[in-house]
Amino acid sequence: MDMELEGYLRPPEYPMAPYPAKVITLSTSAKLVIRQVDRDDVPILLEAIKPTLQVARDYYDIVGVRLYAELLGWSRYRVRDEFCLVGQIDGLLVGIVNSRMYSPEIGISLHTLAIERGLRIGAHLFASKMEHHIEYLDQEEVLITAESPIGFRRWMIEYGLEERDGQHELGGATPYALTRDLYFAAKHRLVAGERPVPPELMAVAEKEIIIATEDDILEKILGAKRRILQ
Ligand SMILES: CC(C)(COP(=O)(O)OP(=O)(O)OC[C@H]1O[C@@H](n2cnc3c(N)ncnc32)[C@H](O)[C@@H]1OP(=O)(O)O)[C@@H](O)C(=O)NCCC(=O)NCCS
Repeated sequence: MDMELEGYLRPPEYPMAPYPAKVITLSTSAKLVIRQVDRDDVPILLEAIKPTLQVARDYYDIVGVRLYAELLGWSRYRVRDEFCLVGQIDGLLVGIVNSRMYSPEIGISLHTLAIERGLRIGAHLFASKMEHHIEYLDQEEVLITAESPIGFRRWMIEYGLEERDGQHELGGATPYALTRDLYFAAKHRLVAGERPVPPELMAVAEKEIIIATEDDILEKILGAKRRILQ
């Protein structure tokens, strides 16, 4: 690789604090470990996202294809100041969120994708990325948009986000802001988890990101009895 030319192609990088892993006990008693991953983990995440591109229902296709592009772009140093958190149960990947810093003060929420459904795993992952923006990256606000009605309910309504002028970088949609005040007002209701993650749980999560088969992923996101792609 011509590293001199590469130096012009790569966006600059702002130093970003790490996200400390946490564990959430779900209503089923399963332990959901939420942790930050790095560029080396992207290939396995892309494999898990691929099946979602066939599913129009609940906008999995749009969210999947955009998330795929953003993670690939990050792994190849073509997206600026992105981070990615994953949710795992016994090592199995159950959801992914990504986001980036627009500036030291402003965060841009990119995507949330739940593979295991019905347990608010997507909601917990979204809350974790807001926690990262506000508490660890110490940002003033996060600009958010929604591509699906479920997303609109989960973010705009549950957090009471403030509508803003201008365009979100995801397709120019209306941006909504999570300010520090809104985050801390919602925190006790929406941001869960305990730290540190017990070492044995963390070891399982870090050993391998296990992904379900394509059939299992389709079954999980469409519901067991609803295998008809819409
Ligand atoms: C939005 C999203 C992250 C929310 O994840 P979540 O908090 O884990 O929520 P779920 O998707 O499990 O459930 C959302 C609702 O759909 C229902 N639902 C739909 N299909 C379901 C399924 N196969 N299994 C279980 N519940 C299902 C649930 O009952 C739930 O209802 P509720 O809002 O009254 O609780 C997730 O739905 C998702 O990945 N959607 C596709 C991509 C997307 O829209 N991302 C956000 C873009 S803004």
